[in-house]
Amino acid sequence: MPLLEVNNLSVHFGSRARPVRAVDGISFTVSAGEVVALVGESGSGKSATALSLARLLPEPAARFASGSIKFAGREVLTLSESEMRQLRGGRIAYVFQEPSAALNPVLSIGAQIDEALRERRRAIDRKTELFRLLRAVGLGDTERVARAYPHELSGGMQQRAVIAMALAGKPQLLVADEPTTALDVTVQAQVLNVLLDVQRTEGMGMLFITHNLGIVAGVAQRVLVMYAGQIVEAGSVEDVLQTPRHPYTKALVAAVPRLRGGSARLEGIPGAAPTATNYPTGCRFHPRCAFARERCSREEPMWESVDEQGSGVRCHFWKELS
Ligand SMILES: Nc1ncnc2c1ncn2[C@@H]1O[C@H](COP(=O)(O)OP(=O)(O)O)[C@@H](O)[C@H]1O
Ligand SMILES: [Mg+2]
Repeated sequence: MPLLEVNNLSVHFGSRARPVRAVDGISFTVSAGEVVALVGESGSGKSATALSLARLLPEPAARFASGSIKFAGREVLTLSESEMRQLRGGRIAYVFQEPSAALNPVLSIGAQIDEALRERRRAIDRKTELFRLLRAVGLGDTERVARAYPHELSGGMQQRAVIAMALAGKPQLLVADEPTTALDVTVQAQVLNVLLDVQRTEGMGMLFITHNLGIVAGVAQRVLVMYAGQIVEAGSVEDVLQTPRHPYTKALVAAVPRLRGGSARLEGIPGAAPTATNYPTGCRFHPRCAFARERCSREEPMWESVDEQGSGVRCHFWKELS
């Protein structure tokens, strides 16, 4: 049984008459110890997906219009408030883009991690655990860091502290939503490595969200490509990067120079992503697709599975294009 099992999930905002279909019928799984990447342009529904998992979206402004979210075999969408608090208090932890937004400016780093450690139900030596966590995220000067306030740390160190805080609840699933996007390029790789390090040693499942297909290799085992609220392709990282099936994924791969053996030619994807109140008929990607035919504007392609591991594609013509 996968740790997380999302089935036909739709998350809508706004009026029922003209809903913002931020997430529109997506299905995927994350197993224990597995890293799954969720990739897509800005506005494609990645954060709405992430926040849905522990129901962090403001309800009823956000509505679960369809589907199911099973975490460790239990349906999240029907949990009671107290069960939800347990889930949020530890089993599912988040790391977001902006570390300063996750930290309390008037509490020391040590106090904030300690607060998260108090949530643990089994008695632990909190001080020992605090220092262990700080070392695990590469904040080796533990005494000094524990006493420091967020503004005294660099962005990279702040994000390490946020990761330590996320680990404090011993999560089974870590949801990392663009965790390095706001950081200095020079520290992005270091923080990414810290994240992968702790994911492996703690044996957590991780949903790793990024708009950058180029950093998925070496991070995730599987990748989900999201476009306009839908997953348009899923597969192993190797397969998706080497033999993308969907024209959108092909374009994304082509736009990452180093994935194409060193050629520096950058082909952006022409046109803009559609807005979530107004998706095109047929295939949502057809107005930007280099391979679109008449059928693509008329008929919405269904999800086609290509194996038992969740790989598949949503395109009428993927076979002819491969
Ligand atoms: N609280 C909200 N109220 C209304 N619309 C929202 C809200 N949050 C997100 N959206 C809309 O949902 C769509 C997906 O947003 P989001 O999940 O943040 O995308 P991503 O993380 O991929 O950039 C966008 O069209 C966005 O404007
Ligand atoms: Mg986002």
